[in-house]
Amino acid sequence: MRKILIRGGRVLDPASDRDETADVLIEDGKIRAVGPSLDATDAEVVEAKGCWVAPGFVDLHTHLREPGQEYKEDIGSGGRSAVAGGFTSVACMANTDPVNDDPAMTDFILDRAQQSSPARVYPVAAATKGLKGKVMTEMSALKAAGAVAFSDDGKTIMDAAVMRHVLEYSKLVECPVITHAEDRKLVANGVVNEGPVSTKLGLPANPSLAEDVMVVRDLMLAEMVGAHLHIAHVSSKGAVAAIRAARERGVCVTAEVTPHHLALTDEAALGYDTNTKVAPPLRSAADVLACRAGLVDGTIDAIATDHAPHAVHEKDLEFTLAPPGLLGFETAFSVVMDLVRRSELSPLELMRRMSTNPAKIIDRPGGSLAVGELADVVILDPELRWVYDPAKGYSKSQNSPWAGKEMHGRVVATIVGGVPVYDVEHGVL
Ligand code: NCD
Ligand code: ZN
Ligand code: ZN
Repeated sequence: MRKILIRGGRVLDPASDRDETADVLIEDGKIRAVGPSLDATDAEVVEAKGCWVAPGFVDLHTHLREPGQEYKEDIGSGGRSAVAGGFTSVACMANTDPVNDDPAMTDFILDRAQQSSPARVYPVAAATKGLKGKVMTEMSALKAAGAVAFSDDGKTIMDAAVMRHVLEYSKLVECPVITHAEDRKLVANGVVNEGPVSTKLGLPANPSLAEDVMVVRDLMLAEMVGAHLHIAHVSSKGAVAAIRAARERGVCVTAEVTPHHLALTDEAALGYDTNTKVAPPLRSAADVLACRAGLVDGTIDAIATDHAPHAVHEKDLEFTLAPPGLLGFETAFSVVMDLVRRSELSPLELMRRMSTNPAKIIDRPGGSLAVGELADVVILDPELRWVYDPAKGYSKSQNSPWAGKEMHGRVVATIVGGVPVYDVEHGVL
């Protein structure tokens, strides 16, 4: 097996609170040693001076679109896009066609991942059959097939009694339930955040209240049942406050926020660019500030991309008709580096939210550079400037609000299980 020495980088390992200049030695797919001036005999040397060396990112929330919508993305293209963004593991949502609500489908996804994805892929199975919110899936069979969590993401389970039962069964299989928390009736046909921007644009509005009430409902159900609830793509000030209060009273809740909800307000939609249309919608500056504060103080555990590819012809429609969702993998690190540059998060704490915390939430390996752990590693240049062009990226889709924008900070190499799978010079290997 390959032996690789990553030399002289700033090693950021949240699992051991390590933040110091050191070498990292990888052998047989594992971390063999971390320390100063390691012996490089027989090793391929990767110079990392000026760069950060961290455990590979773990994305709790992605849409890989296979099976059924391979014109948008497939497990191979999604996996390549993931490693180009520094993600060594990704959890994929069940809203494929057919839906991942059956162990044979979970099997299929894992099989395809094995054949085609350079990133590890962890299927999230549907919580209800067909994502219809009515009949629960067979959770223990799905877990046995490899599901790591349950979610009807894309849809909200509107029937509180069904949600209660899903939470109850999730305890038996010891998996989190991931909620897409938006009250569908309050969302109505809203396509942008309710406020001055929706008025200016003359578009149907989706109030942050729709998210707030559903987050509160799900927190109350999880509290009563004693189950692990994970809240997807938190975007509202009210949701952050509700999660913070629930944590304080001991509810078993974890949460994620996306790079776009940390970086963009609803004003990004003022030009009617459908690449800013997403569920939940981009919100007000006050909501963005609350999400950032929640991520910093630990109310929100993880950054997850909600990578949601849609084809050019689908996004090239009126704002009301275009599907919601945007690409996440290849811009995530550069976008969230803003938190470090503004001294809201230290580099080590950013890595914790991109890697260590999400790995823990789904109870998978990764998120650590401890000796003996899987060598899933990312090398980052915090200063490199580049212009993002989705047409040159690895996703099959191009729906990004950052197309053509100058980015600051870049993933320079990604290693999965001790094997280099991406570097900025050669691309995906
Ligand atoms: C997601 C999709 O396209 O599947 N879209 C989105 O706007 N986030 C669904 C989802 O995450 O709810
Ligand atoms: Zn969702
Ligand atoms: Zn999603």
